[in-house]
Amino acid sequence: MKLTEELRKAMRITVDYTNMTEKYLGDKGISQKTLDAQRRLAKAAHTYVSRNRGKDELFMGWTELPYNQAEVVADILTTAKHIRRNFDTFVVLGIGGSALGPTMAFNALCHLHYNDLPKSKRKGPKFYVEDNVDPVRMKELLDVIDVTRTCFNVISKSGATSETMAQYLIISDLLKKAGVNIRDNVIFTTDASRGNLVKISKELGGVKSYVLGDGVGGRFSELSPVGLLPAAVLGIDIKALLKGAAYMDKLCKPSDMYRNPALMCATLQYIAMQSGKNIGVLMPYSDNLRYVSDWYAQLWAESLGKNVHLDGRPCNIGQTPVKALGVTDQHSQVQLYTEGPYDKVVTFLSIENYKEKTPIPHGCENIPDVAFLGGHTMEELIQAENKATAYALTKAGRLNYTIRLPELNAFTLGELLFLFELQTAYAGAMFDIDTFNQPGVEAGKKATFALLGKPGYELQRSDLDNAAPDEKYII
Ligand code: PA5
Repeated sequence: MKLTEELRKAMRITVDYTNMTEKYLGDKGISQKTLDAQRRLAKAAHTYVSRNRGKDELFMGWTELPYNQAEVVADILTTAKHIRRNFDTFVVLGIGGSALGPTMAFNALCHLHYNDLPKSKRKGPKFYVEDNVDPVRMKELLDVIDVTRTCFNVISKSGATSETMAQYLIISDLLKKAGVNIRDNVIFTTDASRGNLVKISKELGGVKSYVLGDGVGGRFSELSPVGLLPAAVLGIDIKALLKGAAYMDKLCKPSDMYRNPALMCATLQYIAMQSGKNIGVLMPYSDNLRYVSDWYAQLWAESLGKNVHLDGRPCNIGQTPVKALGVTDQHSQVQLYTEGPYDKVVTFLSIENYKEKTPIPHGCENIPDVAFLGGHTMEELIQAENKATAYALTKAGRLNYTIRLPELNAFTLGELLFLFELQTAYAGAMFDIDTFNQPGVEAGKKATFALLGKPGYELQRSDLDNAAPDEKYII
């Protein structure tokens, strides 16, 4: 994609928060006074994030990913070419931040039935992201792939995540039994020097590996090799993805929230959360954007769900992310959004130009209830339904705003990801919490180690045994 300044502007995504305001929602909306009152806090959050950009020790290395990867991008493109030539299938083994980004980009920018397309119509090998240890799923993946013709990208920052490492053990055993040199079919994406994948790579005589920098946590890693290698294998324009992120970064330079889209989103959510809106619905009107909601759910929930402020004062912060899909969920959840408790903010993701219009032919001329649809396009229909839902919510006094993409491509996806990442960092700064840790996730990982007998976790094991279910409460 050749990106002139004009094209960048045409591809600029916008935030429309009309339906959050008192002017349109009456007393259920946010008044200008309330918004203005947060201007200083927003500015302080912006200063905090700007001042700490790129600092690995604060896990803010992700802010520089759009700028500091020229070499690694070149290497990834060469590797991706090799993979496309030599393998039928590419499988990501990872979980959480090591899986949600690749899934999201795949779904957003590839054909919705990519794996069903004939090879000649795909830009890369078949693609799977395995982010669970459901034994059925693993077995059934193995039913449809030939491990000898598959490249496995094992993604784990720590190399100590039980799920990913169990998958690795299964795959490496199968490769060995099939007489394949593991090194030929495996690529690691992991920490630079620490972690088990580094050790395994050494044992195997050096596995092709990509580094997940110290300052880049899992949920902020999509623009690192975690997301870039799978995307490049799929033929996605990863340079455009990074340029889109850089463009959003530029749009978010102003410290005034009225001129900074991510800061405005963070401020709106902050105000909403302070008034009890502890559910955040993300509702893309696009099947391609459906997994953005999964990725965002982790980003928002794991970053803001905290029980302590930076100075140690206790708190319970967070907003529960809910995933909805337009128009599908209009026919299930929207009833609740319109008439249920006033505890939600709905964020719509809208597209101005879908890559397909799909005309609706004329027909059923004697049935006016159906005939009116003829001559329109499915694009017009989905956009009308998006507008209608926003209107209905607004009429019912429900907070909602729209992030609008002129079209969906690698550049605008990069913009969107960076918008959400900055929004999360700003919101965390406003709440004065550690946005980038995840002690709650670590606690579950450790308990799993204990249950499966990992040395060093014996004490926790006996604690877990004492917490076994009480017969008294089982009916
Ligand atoms: O965002 C995070 O830090 C987590 O979701 C991790 O990505 C997830 O737990 C996987 O960890 P790892 O990459 O160490 O295997």
